[in-house]
Amino acid sequence: TVFPDSASASLSVAKRIADLIKSKQLLGENAVLGLATGATPIEVYAELVRMHKEDGLSFSNVITFNLDEYFPMQPDAVQSYVHFMKEQLFDHIDIDMNNVHIPDGTLAKEDIAAFCLEYERMISSIGGLDLQILGIGRTGHIGFNEPGSAPNSGTRLVTLDDLTRRDAAHDFGGKENVPTKAITMGIGTIFKAREIILMAWNRKKAGIVKKAVEGEISSDVPSTYLQLSDKVGFVLDEEAASEL
Ligand code: GLP
Repeated sequence: TVFPDSASASLSVAKRIADLIKSKQLLGENAVLGLATGATPIEVYAELVRMHKEDGLSFSNVITFNLDEYFPMQPDAVQSYVHFMKEQLFDHIDIDMNNVHIPDGTLAKEDIAAFCLEYERMISSIGGLDLQILGIGRTGHIGFNEPGSAPNSGTRLVTLDDLTRRDAAHDFGGKENVPTKAITMGIGTIFKAREIILMAWNRKKAGIVKKAVEGEISSDVPSTYLQLSDKVGFVLDEEAASEL
């Protein structure tokens, strides 16, 4: 779906999320959301905060799992995805923080594999993700599933692509300060969600959006795997869609 701008596109995604939360509330069930970081979802989160404050949307039945976190990363560092999620969303809504899950950037290396298995187990044990939202990196990554990621990959420690680290350099005051690794949900983890929405805005995403939507399905561009599923929606602004 192509919207004239990121504001109208973000409103539509926020509305989809709110509708899901409310429909689950009517059933007395939890809504299980897979959340993303980066600049792309910021307006979606701002609209959800507005809906909470002005329209009374409650997040008391919401359970969240974030896609990824840098490794190593302290949760209180300004670049951490824990910090990002609190600042953009969690600090402003009525979510129970016990229902919030974000990969742990503070683990000892030998504990990562067990943590990742447990992350997968927690997602399945509550019945899986109802909705996963995604941005897209210029390498074609979703989460931090960089080129080379297998379609059945699970949550794991990965090495970040050079382009991804360059794109993050501004946040870290130089590429040399960007962690070389991250913990990310896998492509297989993402694909188990019942609904997936990939969002992309701005001209700088137009090239990778074209590859993701129209390119040959290949591990070289992990977002091309999304072509294999009919439960995936791309929500784009006109600039991001301009090469389609
Ligand atoms: C990071 C995140 C991705 C995100 C990507 C794009 O690499 N791990 O989940 O999609 O950045 O970021 P932005 O939305 O800022 O363009």
